[in-house]
Amino acid sequence: MLKIAVLVSGGGTNLQALIDAQSGGKLCGGEIALVVASNGSAYALERAKKAGIPTEVMLRRSFSSQADYDAALIGLLEKNGIGLIVLAGFMTIISAQVVSRFRNRIINIHPSLIPSFCGEGYYGLRVHEEALKRGVRVTGATVHFVNEVCDGGPIILQKAVDVLPGDTPRSLQERVMKQAEWKLLPEAVALFCENRLRVEDGRVTIKEVQS
Ligand code: GRF
Repeated sequence: MLKIAVLVSGGGTNLQALIDAQSGGKLCGGEIALVVASNGSAYALERAKKAGIPTEVMLRRSFSSQADYDAALIGLLEKNGIGLIVLAGFMTIISAQVVSRFRNRIINIHPSLIPSFCGEGYYGLRVHEEALKRGVRVTGATVHFVNEVCDGGPIILQKAVDVLPGDTPRSLQERVMKQAEWKLLPEAVALFCENRLRVEDGRVTIKEVQS
């Protein structure tokens, strides 16, 4: 079994989508073994507890330097035998040290069609505010591997979502979550667990299943 750690900071609806996929038998070969929260009040922690998944809270401010924090995070993940890390709304910076230790084994979900509305400062409602400001007709979500560039890693899956007249950042955020994020993330994790993702020259290929 591939052990999966899900890193969270907020409501945890994407974590819930993963928990539901697991109980529906869709994460063949993988198991959510640990949920790590960047703060103790993340509702995601309740979701994990309800599902019987072990949790840890790691506050960045409890560590005097980024290097100390990184070492503790890597230690925690290694101690638990984690083979895949999923960032599901995790608001603490993942440093180059962690990225290189888990190269092509960290997945992130971003609520836009990368390379639009992404990078430094593009998180939460801001992403949808900027999409509405620009007047795009279509937005969506992207699941990608994490590298040293913010939202710049190899793209695994994307799904488009319509922007509708009268949309507010909140209504758009909700539609992107429902129509794209909650489907894409479990799908990408399942592909990883089935060992069907290959990264070459910064691009991902998805292996077809032999029939
Ligand atoms: C999602 O919009 C995700 O795309 C972004 O952070 C949000 C997390 O929401 N990275 P939730 O905690 O999964 O409900």
